[in-house]
Amino acid sequence: MARIYNFSAGPCTLPVEVLEQVSDQIVDYGNTGMSLIEMSHRSKMVDGVHCAALDLVREILNVPESHHVLFLGGGATMQFGMVPANLLAGGKSADYIHSGAWAKKAIADGKAFGDVNVIWDGKESSYMTLPDPAPGNLNVTPDAQYLHLTSNETIGGIQWKRFPDVKAPLVCDMSSDIFSRPIPMEKFGIIYAGAQKNLGPAGVALVIIRDDVLQQCSDDLPLYMNYKKHVDGNSMLNTPPVFQIWMIKLVLEWLKGKGGLEWAQEMAARRSQILYDMVDRHSEFYRCPVDRAVASPMNVVWRCATEELEAKLIKEATAAGLDGLKGHRSVGGCRASIYNAMPLEGAQALADFMNEFAQSNG
Ligand SMILES: Cc1ncc(COP(=O)(O)O)c(C=O)c1O
Repeated sequence: MARIYNFSAGPCTLPVEVLEQVSDQIVDYGNTGMSLIEMSHRSKMVDGVHCAALDLVREILNVPESHHVLFLGGGATMQFGMVPANLLAGGKSADYIHSGAWAKKAIADGKAFGDVNVIWDGKESSYMTLPDPAPGNLNVTPDAQYLHLTSNETIGGIQWKRFPDVKAPLVCDMSSDIFSRPIPMEKFGIIYAGAQKNLGPAGVALVIIRDDVLQQCSDDLPLYMNYKKHVDGNSMLNTPPVFQIWMIKLVLEWLKGKGGLEWAQEMAARRSQILYDMVDRHSEFYRCPVDRAVASPMNVVWRCATEELEAKLIKEATAAGLDGLKGHRSVGGCRASIYNAMPLEGAQALADFMNEFAQSNG
C-alpha cells in the first residue's frame, strides 16, 4: 500500500490505523453479521458507539459538567447560523472578531439573525495578524450576548495563542485546531468545530455548549436548529451521522493512546517548526506572510517570489508524493495543513523537498 503525504486543509489525512480499523469492521461489525451503518440508530450497538464518542470528547478535552457535548449535522457552516439563531432572537447583539475568511462567514450569518458588532477587523494587515487579547484591549459592547472568535484561520494560517478575558461568553469556531492543544474550557459559552481536520470525516460538527448559555437559547426555532432539543435528545434527535461519529470515536481512541492533547500540542509545535525553519532558512526564496507571533501550527502558509514558481513547486511536490499544497483559491500561495494525523516524517519530507526546490530554483 503506497500512502502519500496529504497536506490538504480538510478533508485531510486521517490516522492510517483508524482507516484500517474501519476497513476491517465495515462489513461485519462486532460479529453481528452487519455493518454498524446498517443498524438502527436506536440499537444498543450504535448507542454504545455514540455515547463512547461523546465520553471521549469529554475526557480528552476535559469538558466540565457545566458543558453539554453534541454531534450535529451540517458541519461548522450550520453553526455559523445556529449560534445567532439561538442567541440573538428578539434584536439582541453580539461582538465578532473579523480575523479572516472563516470569521467573515460567521459574521455574515450572524447578521442574518441579529445585530453584529465587528469590534476588530484585520483588513489593514490583510488578515495576517490578530488583536492582543490582553484585558481591556478589545472594545467589547457592554450588552453583547457573546464574543465570537475563530481560533485558527485555516486559510490565512493564523491562530489565537491566548483567548480574551471578557464578560460575555466566548463563542469559538475551533474547526481547524480543536484537539491540538488544551483549552481553557471555562471561558467558552459555545465551541464548535467541523470534524474534517482533527476528528474524522466531514459533515458533522462537534458542539460544546455551557448550560447557562443553553438556558438563554431561543425556544422558537425549527427543531433541528434548537440546541435545547439536541441536548434533551443527547444528539439523537434524528438519525445521526453514525459513520462519522464512529470514526470520531476511533480517532479519539487513537489520540488518547498517543497521549492526548499534550502529545498533540507538542507534535504540532515540532511539525510546524520544521516548516517555518525551512522558510526562514531560505528567506531570499520563501516568505511567510503572517505575523509570526500568531502563526498557525496547523496551517503553514508561504509564498515564493512569483506565482509561476509557486505553481511549479506545487506540481513537483505532488509528483513527489506531497499532495494538497495549493493555497486556498482566495489567497493563492502555498499551504501545508499539518493536523494531528500528519506524521513528523511528512513535515520533514516536505521540508527536504522545499530545501531542494529553493536550491535548484533560487
Ligand atoms: C475554521 C473553519 N470554520 C468553518 C469551516 C467550515 O466547515 P464545514 O465545511 O464543516 O461547514 C472550515 C472548513 O474548512 C474551517 O476551516
